[in-house]
Amino acid sequence: GSEMGQTPRAEVGVIGGTGLYEFVSDAEEVVVETPYGAPSAPITVGTVAGRAVAFVPRHGRSHEYPPHAIPYRANLWALRSLGVTQVLSPSAVGGLRPDAVAPGDLVTPDQLVDRTWRRIPSYVETGATHVPLADPYCARIAKAYVAADPSVKVGGTLIVIEGPRFSTRAESIHHAAQGWTLVGMTGAPEAALARELRMCYAPLCLVTDMDAGAAEGEGVDEDDVYALFAANLERMRTILADTIGGLPDPAGCSCSTWAEGKQLAYEIP
Ligand code: ADE
Repeated sequence: GSEMGQTPRAEVGVIGGTGLYEFVSDAEEVVVETPYGAPSAPITVGTVAGRAVAFVPRHGRSHEYPPHAIPYRANLWALRSLGVTQVLSPSAVGGLRPDAVAPGDLVTPDQLVDRTWRRIPSYVETGATHVPLADPYCARIAKAYVAADPSVKVGGTLIVIEGPRFSTRAESIHHAAQGWTLVGMTGAPEAALARELRMCYAPLCLVTDMDAGAAEGEGVDEDDVYALFAANLERMRTILADTIGGLPDPAGCSCSTWAEGKQLAYEIP
């Protein structure tokens, strides 16, 4: 932490997924306390592409938090408390539809189905605040991903399962039959929490495997997931850095304007 001097500020947040445990070099480490406990790790704040960036590894520095045990509320709150208004959220996902995606693809989906069931999904603990989430992701950030690398696919639905286990074959076939594209374990409640805190948020999903129902065979092996992520780590870092360099001004974005004139039932740091 910074016992001396001021806590550094940041504009852009990155929540690193499996395999991405460090992102900002020459970073200052900030230990942030929140009303929701400590985030997954101390936040590192540094400069990427000329912007002040705060990074938190979602699973902790040595992957100590499995998807269902991640301190989601503390992570988003900590980023917001440092000044962050735009959050880039890389993660590893499974692909559900071979006609739409393949391992190695990078996708920024435009829809979300939340099938998690034992996480605290909100900062609202009393009173009536119901955030709009019809469009769960920031379209401006999605555009910046594509501008950074035109191979990034835009659109599709991410279903978030509770985990930490992978889906059964029947679950996977069901998810694909709904027309959903990707399956992950961490995209909820992250997106809703970012919206509650009036931050722009967009996922950058690396397809590491085709989920259990998508092909005949053994189902998903976590070693394949880690290996594919490792093979794409540098590509991911480059796209994130280039995206940060090209991010548009978040002012006036519907990710934050929904709250104008409203009395929120919780505090935004
Ligand atoms: N993360 C990476 N691959 C996954 C899969 N098949 N299901 C859920 N989360 C994943």
